[in-house]
Amino acid sequence: MTGAVAGLVLSLGMIAPSVTAVAAAGYDFNSAASLQVVVNKHRQLSPAAYVPGQLVRVQGERLRAQAADAYKQFAKAAKVAGVNVMPISGYRSFSEQASLYDSYVRQYGQATADTLAARPGYSEHQTGLAMDIGNASGICALQACFANTPAGQWAAAHGWEYGFIIRYPAGAQATTGYTYEPWHLRYVGRPIAEDMKSTGITTLEKYFGLEAAPDYLQ
Ligand code: DAL
Ligand code: ZN
Repeated sequence: MTGAVAGLVLSLGMIAPSVTAVAAAGYDFNSAASLQVVVNKHRQLSPAAYVPGQLVRVQGERLRAQAADAYKQFAKAAKVAGVNVMPISGYRSFSEQASLYDSYVRQYGQATADTLAARPGYSEHQTGLAMDIGNASGICALQACFANTPAGQWAAAHGWEYGFIIRYPAGAQATTGYTYEPWHLRYVGRPIAEDMKSTGITTLEKYFGLEAAPDYLQ
């Protein structure tokens, strides 16, 4: 905050706006094609069957070009540090997400499925900006214990340097609508990832001042 703003805040007795809120103001979190789009149970992609342009291959998966470049740097740096990060699932189309969601519903019932997988049109994977990662060994793949594995620890410690956040942190289901997914990386760009890391704001909903989205509205 500048001295002038701080003075105004003090003199008017206002709650100080966080530097984060000010910094976040310039981002487009509404457009499906924006690198900062926020998708959750209250914020369906528009159009629902959105398909991103510029999808590029990353070891058998696909991501938007900017996210793919960042991911490659991230995985390369991990490898230098002796950690073998593997892509598990990147871009998923509306219909691929529908199949995945339906399989979860058949397996667990709808209420539990909704805490694990997004309905089609509501998944970050459909933006081409999310990548689920694993270890080359396959240990703890897509399980909470992934957080304690080399790839999970590398992602938590260094993902921000490449513009990634762990989108579904532990204990944030009331905000994000999903249980802990330490493997789900979302590309938002380094300025935001770094700001979230340094401020300790762990969800995009809180970062952008958006309402919590624990459940679907309909
Ligand atoms: N597992 C995340 C929430 C998805 O399906 O997009
Ligand atoms: Zn995911």
